[in-house]
Amino acid sequence: MRTETEHTIYLKDYAPSPYKITAVDLDFRILADTTRVRALLTIEPQAETAPGTPLVLDGDGLKLSSVAIDGAPLALVAYAADDNGLTIIEPPLRRFVLETEVTLKPEGNLKLMGLYRSSGTWCTQCEPEGFRRITYYLDRPDNLATFKVTMTAPRDLAPVLLANGNLVGQGDAGDGMHFAVWEDPFPKPAYLFALVAGDLGSITDSFTTASGRKVDLAIYCEHGKEDQCLWAMDSLKRSMAWDEKRFGREYDLDIFNIVAVSDFNFGAMENKGLNIFNDKLVFAQPATATDADYENIERVIAHEYFHNWTGNRITCRDWFQLCLKEGLTVYRDQEFTSDERSRAVKRISDVVTLRSAQFPEDGGPLAHPARPDQYREINNFYTPTVYEKGAEIVRMLATLLGEAGFRKGMDLYFERHDGEATTIEAFLAVFAEANGVDLEQFKTWYLQAGTPRLTMSDSYDAVSQTYTLKLSQETLPTPGQLTKQALVLPIKFGLIGPNGSPMGWSAVSGGEVRDDMIVLREASAEITFKGIANKPVPSLLREFSAPVNLDTNLTQDDRLFLAQHDSDPYGRWQALQDVATALAVDAATGKPWSDAAVAGLSRAMADTLANKDLDDAFKALALGLPGEAVIGRTIGKDIDPARIHEVRNALTKAVFGPLGRDLLIAYTNLSSTLPYQPDAASTGRRALRNRVLALLVGSEAAGASALAASQYAEATNMTDRYAALTILGSAWTAEAPTVLADFRTRFTANPLVFDKWLMVSALAQDEGVLERIKAILAAPDFPKSNPNRLRSLLGSFVMSNPAQFTRPDGTAFRFITDVVADIDTRNPQVAARVLTGFRIWQMLEPQRREAARSALTALQAGGKLSRNTADILARMLA
Ligand code: PHE
Ligand code: ZN
Repeated sequence: MRTETEHTIYLKDYAPSPYKITAVDLDFRILADTTRVRALLTIEPQAETAPGTPLVLDGDGLKLSSVAIDGAPLALVAYAADDNGLTIIEPPLRRFVLETEVTLKPEGNLKLMGLYRSSGTWCTQCEPEGFRRITYYLDRPDNLATFKVTMTAPRDLAPVLLANGNLVGQGDAGDGMHFAVWEDPFPKPAYLFALVAGDLGSITDSFTTASGRKVDLAIYCEHGKEDQCLWAMDSLKRSMAWDEKRFGREYDLDIFNIVAVSDFNFGAMENKGLNIFNDKLVFAQPATATDADYENIERVIAHEYFHNWTGNRITCRDWFQLCLKEGLTVYRDQEFTSDERSRAVKRISDVVTLRSAQFPEDGGPLAHPARPDQYREINNFYTPTVYEKGAEIVRMLATLLGEAGFRKGMDLYFERHDGEATTIEAFLAVFAEANGVDLEQFKTWYLQAGTPRLTMSDSYDAVSQTYTLKLSQETLPTPGQLTKQALVLPIKFGLIGPNGSPMGWSAVSGGEVRDDMIVLREASAEITFKGIANKPVPSLLREFSAPVNLDTNLTQDDRLFLAQHDSDPYGRWQALQDVATALAVDAATGKPWSDAAVAGLSRAMADTLANKDLDDAFKALALGLPGEAVIGRTIGKDIDPARIHEVRNALTKAVFGPLGRDLLIAYTNLSSTLPYQPDAASTGRRALRNRVLALLVGSEAAGASALAASQYAEATNMTDRYAALTILGSAWTAEAPTVLADFRTRFTANPLVFDKWLMVSALAQDEGVLERIKAILAAPDFPKSNPNRLRSLLGSFVMSNPAQFTRPDGTAFRFITDVVADIDTRNPQVAARVLTGFRIWQMLEPQRREAARSALTALQAGGKLSRNTADILARMLA
């Protein structure tokens, strides 16, 4: 049963506010230990507001010192202030200016919401509900206002003063203080407000928009790190050009600033004209950042920039609509990466992410629709479902409408809703209108939780030369949603003839088939193709055109055939994954695998490695076996992660052991002495070489771990060094303690490299890992308030080390719940996120399940938890 129902907020209860704030004039006086905020809010009642309707403003942890209306102080009886806000009991029924003054203590703000300090820099985080920790306000995304911000601060502590929009004034304020005035002409919701004051260095550049306007660009960071911001700047300029070219969207202010801070709860934030970034998503240089870091920085810089149109100019009416901006913007950043790099490789990596992060969420106690209809704590809904599944839904829309139809809808969306706070319904309506289609059923994707299962079986009749595909879909119940409807599934496909080439057909019946796509709208369909001379092998769900689990009656030989002949690179990759998954599932559930099947996979892997037409980045992915979590989820229940771990290691040996010579030759051939470049081709070459190294070590080839140790020692960039470290560290080979110790001292001063050390430390697969993690965390100088450090150590352990996290004795479960309770007293968002690692607990075998349940119930019994953590816990145990 759910408790705390009084906190639950429902979409059906949405109502506009009786008052609106149209203009905001903020005055910040920043001193070393306190900040005083004076707010002048221009407020109007809505046309239909009745006289005597109180004005209820949100507030959180504010110390109020004065309230006035139109300059006249309010009598004590005219207002009420408490922990949740400020109520003006009988405001005037006309436009008026409300003036409040509050005092903040940014130094003690460890939640990192509102105004806080990160390594001395004052900065803000307001999405979703942080602005109420700065001043009393209508802290809801449908209130759009213009902002003017005056900041006064000590010149020595904060020579740099930034806020949204344009700088309109600055000067000396006496007594060692100075001031700056910023104005943002674009009305915006408060969650996009930002301010930064600090002693920062910067790099600058400029971008000229398609219509010829020059935009000044700057990235601010800790002094001395300026040269680590160049890649981020390059990514920003490419993002700006891409959004013009691909979506016709130009930037709209004269200034675009980015600030890198070291304490940040998420990746980055799209505040209007002043993006604030977790510094791990800004800093890159070859010696300390990996290829993955470079790609991530490029992606997130693009993502936050793209929000300027999808999120800022058009924002969300309420937080239930979060995926209106997030799903769409993730789709846009995925497209950017696909255009800048390899589309096929990007698609496969996104599918891997979706399966490892979103599918487990959608199939467990935390499942929720991409557009939820209730929440207790909105911070717990910045999830893989809202982001990644949200992007998949937009991608399906693009697939169904085609590129031109999708663009027509997007154009209409920008034209019609610019300057508004809107909804998923409005978003779908423009696509329906622009294309003359009905999207009623499609909308279910936003409303229904759970990953659908698509089942296919085929048959061929040689006499009538007909080929039949039987398709059916089913979505299992999820918390709060017991019955499910059929979804619209765009299923891209092809039929492949015995010689490996595509087959056509003379006629088709029984379903909606457009060229290379079946659109399944019903619970099931039987589609018959005529004029088929030989039994084809079907390639279904090309490009992973719908986010579903696919079950087929294909044999291992069919799959190996697809791995060789499918024209869709995703299809080839998936076929190899399917072969390997089936073998691993068999072995883990007590059915010994057939040597012939293993040999077939081994040959297919050798062919993939040798294939001259495939690029390195693709091969690096194709040569990877499915992760333990994917194997576990395929088994589906009563899983034993330690057994899966063993089986996967054994499969690695069986498949890649025979390829030792080929792998070693490939490893040598892929070496390069060229200086590091972050481009796609060089990245792909390193990825393949490091994959090959992992396979050599994983299959225990003679001398392999020594080879990894020497790659570690001789590496000239972090990609190669970190890959070797991870390979040795996670397998916990004899060399592991030495290389880890070396890594720790080699980069002592760099916190982002420390994170890498923490991650590898948490991924070690040996029994000693838990004690080592405890020791790391107990060290007196461990930065227990920094989200990056905590996530690197604990997030990696719970999400990526299933065998050790789920030890049957429950020691790791209890360690994590204890740590969560402790972190929760400082930073509830980080605590709640670490706790989500338990979302797989009901799938475990009975002993582990019981151990997890007992740790979770003890945490619940232990007393006062934040709303964030209590909400996750209650849903987990419901
Ligand atoms: N809106 C940010 C993004 O996607 C994420 C974020 C949410 C950051 C909440 C901080 C706080 O792009
Ligand atoms: Zn976003």
